[in-house]
Amino acid sequence: MTRYSIELAYLVATALFILSLHWMSDPKSARRGVFAGVAAMLLGVAATWAKPQILHHWWITVPILIAIVPGVWLSLVPLTAVPQRTALSHAFGGLAAGLVGTAKYFYWLGHEPEMLTAFRMTAIIAEIILGYLTFTGSIVAAGKLQEVKWIPQRPWTYKGQNFVNLGAFALALLLGVILVLRPDMRILSPVLFVAIILLALNFGWMLVMPIGGADMPTVISILNSYAGLSAVAMGFVLDNKLLITAGALDGSSGLILSIIMCKAMNRSFTNVLFGAFGQVQAAQAGGEQKLYKAETIEGAAQVLEQASLVVVVPGYGMAVAQAQHKVRELYDLLKKRGITVKFAIHPVAGRMPGHMNVLLAEAEIPYDDLVEMDAINGDMPQCDVCLVVGANDVVNPAARTDKTSPIYGMPIIDADKARTVFAIKRSKNPGFAGIDNELYFLDKTFMLFGDAKAVIGDLAKQLGGGGLH
Ligand code: TAP
Repeated sequence: MTRYSIELAYLVATALFILSLHWMSDPKSARRGVFAGVAAMLLGVAATWAKPQILHHWWITVPILIAIVPGVWLSLVPLTAVPQRTALSHAFGGLAAGLVGTAKYFYWLGHEPEMLTAFRMTAIIAEIILGYLTFTGSIVAAGKLQEVKWIPQRPWTYKGQNFVNLGAFALALLLGVILVLRPDMRILSPVLFVAIILLALNFGWMLVMPIGGADMPTVISILNSYAGLSAVAMGFVLDNKLLITAGALDGSSGLILSIIMCKAMNRSFTNVLFGAFGQVQAAQAGGEQKLYKAETIEGAAQVLEQASLVVVVPGYGMAVAQAQHKVRELYDLLKKRGITVKFAIHPVAGRMPGHMNVLLAEAEIPYDDLVEMDAINGDMPQCDVCLVVGANDVVNPAARTDKTSPIYGMPIIDADKARTVFAIKRSKNPGFAGIDNELYFLDKTFMLFGDAKAVIGDLAKQLGGGGLH
């Protein structure tokens, strides 16, 4: 392939990456966005592979063949495990960037030391620091989300932690500056280079350990942006424009997503990075025992039948139960009776951005009936029945009223303003933030205890005229 056709392929790939991000911002075009991203990646790899400088094709073919096995395995994880799977992808991306930077440095040092200009050295240092810290940071984030035994879920903190962390980072930067000025000192330069790698590896896990599980998806999104930035640096090292543009898109979209998630949880960036939100609240001893009112399936079905507007609030429990197809059945039955059914989508319902949209799209619920939190809240006082399906924190009124609550200030779906609330969950356990939910104790609220798939299935049977048995 000529140089111009490769550059043209890169240009098309960049355009496809941009379109991919644009399309993915709307559920209607999200699928197209995924295909555009895949096409862009394939085009980028093919064009790079076709470069005349690439002589040893087996060095590319064999790792690709080996990587297919874990790749396919990772793609088969259940939807609930996608956040940790994404973290692992970032870990591999960061490691790849770090290794490329390391290989380039040692190659140039041994063969063409004149290539180690101040500009290239700055790019290599940025690449390895960001790449290696993304690697260990993402491994810890994935471990926390997967709840592996050897990584504590709770924030792991000690006195002076931020000082130690920032100190390690500053030291890596300082060594980096020395290397930029003197990249080819005989023994000292390689030693300093390895020291920077060790500091970055260490900084990555130390950065994520003090952050609690609740903030992990936001952290993953921030690590995504670090991986993107390390790809930008790698693009400068390898003089590859596609890496620079794709990395910049990755870095900026990760950052924007983190900001959206922080806003949706009313968390500040610095709080996420240095706070300890996931800390489990001490149980409030001696408080009065509040009572739940349970409702039968028959009773709930009767109320649902009388409603004009039903708002379904899906949450993490719907994902765990994989109840989306049963929800679709119920939706169809209610619609058949002329009842308006809307789905209230909270930006951080579930465990990853767009979690609920993905599940509801899988069940082919029309996009027009998915309503964003801000748009639905105005209608909640007119809502006859609010059906909460495995959602908890995102409908907890404490976020509006209780200044002492860890979720105070987080925007919520105003389920408590509906005329009647049916809440489906399996037990009296709290949601992700580990706190009680006043919504469940209101006079208008009735619990439908059980697995969401089974309860919704029973409701559908009841409304379909089949009865329960
Ligand atoms: P949660 O507050 O986690 O509550 C989920 C509820 O589902 C639980 O109370 C649980 O109660 C119930 N449940 C679990 N399995 C169930 C099943 N099989 N059938 C029925 N119910 C089941 O979920 P949410 O309301 O979606 O809120 C999300 C939380 O995650 C928020 O705190 C949010 O800040 C946090 N978070 C989300 C994100 C993103 S990007 N989505 C990022 C960071 C943090 P039982 O155990 O009693 O069944």
